[in-house]
Parts: sequence; C-alpha cells; structure tokens
Amino acid sequence: MKKIAIIGCTGSIGRQTLEVVRANPGRFEVVALAAGRNRAALSALAEEFHPKYTALAQDGAPMPEEAYAESDVVVVAASGFAGLCYALEAVRAGGRVALANKESLVCGGELVLAEAERCGAELIPVDSEHSAIFQALGMRRDAPFSKLILTASGGPFLHHTKKELARVTAAEALRHPTWKMGPKVTVDSATLLNKGYELIEAHHLYGAPYEKLSAIVHPESVVHSIVCFEDGAALAQLGYPDMRVPIQLALTCPERLPCAPQLNFEKLAALHFERLPEEKFPCFGLALAAGKAGGTAPTVLNAAAEVAVGAFLEGGITFPRIAETIEGALSKIPREEAESYEALAAADRRARDCARRLVGVE
Ligand SMILES: NC(=O)c1ccc[n+]([C@@H]2O[C@H](COP(=O)([O-])OP(=O)(O)OC[C@H]3O[C@@H](n4cnc5c(N)ncnc54)[C@H](OP(=O)(O)O)[C@@H]3O)[C@@H](O)[C@H]2O)c1
Repeated sequence: MKKIAIIGCTGSIGRQTLEVVRANPGRFEVVALAAGRNRAALSALAEEFHPKYTALAQDGAPMPEEAYAESDVVVVAASGFAGLCYALEAVRAGGRVALANKESLVCGGELVLAEAERCGAELIPVDSEHSAIFQALGMRRDAPFSKLILTASGGPFLHHTKKELARVTAAEALRHPTWKMGPKVTVDSATLLNKGYELIEAHHLYGAPYEKLSAIVHPESVVHSIVCFEDGAALAQLGYPDMRVPIQLALTCPERLPCAPQLNFEKLAALHFERLPEEKFPCFGLALAAGKAGGTAPTVLNAAAEVAVGAFLEGGITFPRIAETIEGALSKIPREEAESYEALAAADRRARDCARRLVGVE
C-alpha cells in the first residue's frame, strides 16, 4: 500500500487523484487530506478515506510535519501561491512529490528545486505537458534534449479578434474546449497565461534555457508535448485529455497501471498544429518576460493575475484588463532577488495590494 497525502483534495486535481485511489483498491492508503475552505467536502472525503491527518487552511491549523514524513507520495494540488508553502514542506520531507500546483514552480522554482535536491526528494510533474516531457525523456528530468515544445489547446478564444476578446464573459472563459479544470487555471488557459506559466515550469523542471522552450497550438489536446533531440528525432506523448493519466503515473511511476481508454488512431484521423497567436494574448509574453527576469518578477506576475482573474470572474473587470493589471503591477513593483520564501511572500503581498488598487477593489 502506497501512502499518499493530498493537498487540495477538494479541487479538480485532488478529486481526480481520489478517483485514481478508488479505481485501484488495495494500492493506495490516504494518510492526509488538506483543503482550503470547503469544510463539508473535506469532511465527506475524510469519512470515505479515513486519513490519519486532515487540515483546513481556513482554520489556520497547518498540516503537521509528520503527515508529510509518513507519506510515500505527497500530491500538491492546492491552487495559487498557497501551493508554494506546501511544495516546500513536501520536498523537505524528502519523499516523492507529485507536483500539480503550478504557482510553486512559477514563483519559487529555484527554491523548490534546490530544496528538493538538498533533501533528496523526487519531484514528479503532474501537469500533462510536463508529464509528457518526463515520459518522453524516459521518466527522468535530467536527460539531454535539444528543444521542448509544449502544446496548447489555445483555449476557447483562439480565433477571436481583439475586438471580440474585449467582450468575452467569465462564463465563456470557463468553457474550456478540451480540459475540465478549476476556475483560475481555466481562465489562465483562455488568456494563455497558463502556457507562459508552463514554459517557466519547464525551465525549472528540466533545466531548460528559455531559447530551448516554445509552445505550439494543438487544438485536439492529444499530443501533450514534444521533446526534440540533437539528431533531429522528436518524441511526443499522446493520449486522450484525461488528467487521471499523469496523476496516476506520478503516483506509480515507473510502473504503468490501467487508467484511461487507448487512443483510437483510425477515429482520430488528423492532428493539427498551428502557431501560437502571442500578439492577441499579451499574458503569454508577460509571463515569459517575468520568467526570464526571475527573482520576484514571476511572483508579482502571479499575484496580480490571481487578483485580476478573481475580479474578472466576479464581473468586475473585462478580459483585456487581466493583462493590463498584470502589466501595471509588474511596472510598479521593482524586481528584487528572491532567495527565501519570506522574500517571495512579501512580494506576493505587495503585488496583491497593488493589483487590488488597479482593479478597483481595495
Ligand atoms: N485542473 C487541472 O486539470 C490542472 C492541470 C494542471 C495543473 N493544475 C494546477 O493544479 C493546481 C490545482 O488546480 P485545480 O484545477 O485542481 O484547482 P481547484 O479545482 O480550484 O482546486 C483548488 C484546491 O486547492 C485547495 N486550496 C486552496 N487554497 C488552499 C490552501 N491555502 N491550503 C490548502 N488547500 C487549498 C482548494 O480547497 P477548497 O476547495 O477547500 O477551497 C481546492 O481543493 C493549480 O495550481 C493548477 O494550476 C491543474
């Protein structure tokens, strides 16, 4: 029985992790469950899985260190900057960490990777694109490659004009064409901020300089990413868009267990690829620039994005103002070095305050 802890158990990734547990009776024991604010859902899951430890962030009682130490795998699936703290605690326990939370690598990639190395933790990506790269590299993060190409569905507004983008609603942004995800990451897929995040994550996970990273639109979301090698060969990982596959692999690798239906190549007929229309989606370029700048810049970017997307979802600002808010915060808050979690947390607070002023909610 593999002992697992799930941080963010009530969300999209957390629940799909528990589906994997249900589908493999006798394989996994859930020792710890943590959530943010959804007490009822956490209680229901605790009743079903009988974890030794539970924690609700809203109560201010953190998950005890023993919960990490007693787990064979910690699934970090909390959303937002809050995930960084959990990712650091999980890697410091020195076991396997199945990392779904993007913000921990976007904001604190150097810190998380350095702590993972220092503590001997095994960091396995859950995001489908990074899992695809991990698989194409032979289930390693340190194998050589010449280029990584991350695929992007393009989101619901891929072919919208700039004029149309100015009028899209939150309900439309939440209708992702291929993936069912939590609200923040779904809106980030519509602005393409998410793809910028993923390039930053790949930079940290695979030690890839930015010139070796690119993104391409692939509307079917069947090819999850492509690794190119020096000799011109390219390896891609394919599968129906189903997050349970990378989640389960992060729990069991190198072992593969039955999970999702096999691809039917005759029915697939065609796979399409097209250039990412960066000029229509400024969040992508903003993320990439912040990633290249490093230090506290990606944390400022992320904090402003969390505030702006929250305001967009509540109908308080238009879609283009998400990018404007991020750009505004980045221009107002100077980049600093980010040697510690505390430095990042301070930048996060400053950027949130700034972004709240920019969107008009103090
Ligand atoms: N969904 C996907 O397919 C997907 C794919 C790749 C990567 N990701 C990444 O995975 C992460 C989770 O995404 P999601 O789609 O699952 O989000 P989600 O559906 O919004 O769920 C977020 C989860 O995080 C919990 N949470 C929030 N703040 C917390 C805190 N301070 N402490 C502990 N738990 C907290 C929430 O608890 P409550 O419900 O109790 O508030 C919920 O369980 C994000 O970083 C996202 O970018 C998601």
